[in-house]
Amino acid sequence: RPVRVETRHCIQVREPVVRVSVCGHLPLCVCVCACELAESSEFNESKGPCLAFRQAASVLKSLPSAVHCLEAIQGLPCLGENTKAVMEEILTFGRSFKVEEIRCDERYQALKLFTSVFGVGPKTAEKWYRRGLRSLQEILTEPNIQLNRMQRAGFLYYSDISKAVSKAEAKALGCIIEETVHWIAPDATLALTGGFRRGKEYGHDVDFLLTMPEMGKEEGLLLHVIDRLKDQGILLYCEYQGSTFDVSKLPSCRFEDMDCFQKCFLILRLEQGQVEGERGLQMDPGDSRGWRAVRVDLVAPPVDCYAFALLGWTGSRQFGRDLRTFAQKERQMLLDNHALYDKTKKLCLLATTEEDIFAHLGLEYVEPWQRNA
Ligand code: CTP
Ligand code: MN
Ligand code: MN
Ligand code: MN
Repeated sequence: RPVRVETRHCIQVREPVVRVSVCGHLPLCVCVCACELAESSEFNESKGPCLAFRQAASVLKSLPSAVHCLEAIQGLPCLGENTKAVMEEILTFGRSFKVEEIRCDERYQALKLFTSVFGVGPKTAEKWYRRGLRSLQEILTEPNIQLNRMQRAGFLYYSDISKAVSKAEAKALGCIIEETVHWIAPDATLALTGGFRRGKEYGHDVDFLLTMPEMGKEEGLLLHVIDRLKDQGILLYCEYQGSTFDVSKLPSCRFEDMDCFQKCFLILRLEQGQVEGERGLQMDPGDSRGWRAVRVDLVAPPVDCYAFALLGWTGSRQFGRDLRTFAQKERQMLLDNHALYDKTKKLCLLATTEEDIFAHLGLEYVEPWQRNA
């Protein structure tokens, strides 16, 4: 099936990534390069180039077939000079020297390593790099480094949480969360969001959204869930953020990741016996613990924001960005995880489902598995 890339709008409806084979697939190869260039730009705090490379990567991974010459990508959006240069290098030499240089760069390597720790952002990573630190071991043995609680958990469970979470593991966690939530509130609504809702086979965490049918009843819900997880002995780490939701505020006009809902970032203990298909099998050869740590995110918006929160938390990040840009540029509307505001009519448009939101935007509904932009 052809990829529909609407250049007039910003929305790009793309093929699911899973259908593209990686081997010898030039667009994907360049896509990987573009991701690395984006990351490197992020470390250098070059926001513009970072975003440009991410968009280029997103377009490239959606191409359904091989590309044998630069002419083949003529007319495609978001492929700038820098990306084309990488593509040309790969077409000519079979490799990109520019990207290889970045891969070998000491600073890039260190920042990539440090930011792979849960709770460590580019700023902290840069600080450690400037102190001359290069390995995780050096950070743990450096006496003058103060790790916060999140970073301590990040190091403690590093090997587990840097390992991909499988669909089966996500499903097992879904059962645990569902049982826990419904034990507390039988009428609560629970949904899997994030990459697994988009049909991804692997993820870095598992994301859930929960709410109550009656406005305001969701208050305190997460704290109860957290308590219950603790009682079950499976809560390894919890960072809770209370709601700072302000109804009177307009949706933010740029894509912001942080919404105001009550949420928690967790690390849970998942027993191997609870994962379907892994009964009696070892998760990792040489690892006989019988359990692993998994990152889980829970978000609890009030019910009237539920559809917006579901859309936002389902992602992908790039899809969300495209959708917000579209809303603003083409519809004079502001979209975020809480609401959709029509600037012309000066009112918020209500939605109980994601379908409602797409309809308000004058777009055909896009299935979650088509949102892997
Ligand atoms: N998100 C958000 N607000 C946050 C954090 C995340 O709206 N405070 C959105 C992100 O934009 C993303 C989705 O929630 O689209 C899920 O985030 P995340 O778990 O980081 O990414 P996934 O797409 O699930 O991919 P992964 O497999 O890496 O977890
Ligand atoms: Mn579930
Ligand atoms: Mn996720
Ligand atoms: Mn997440």
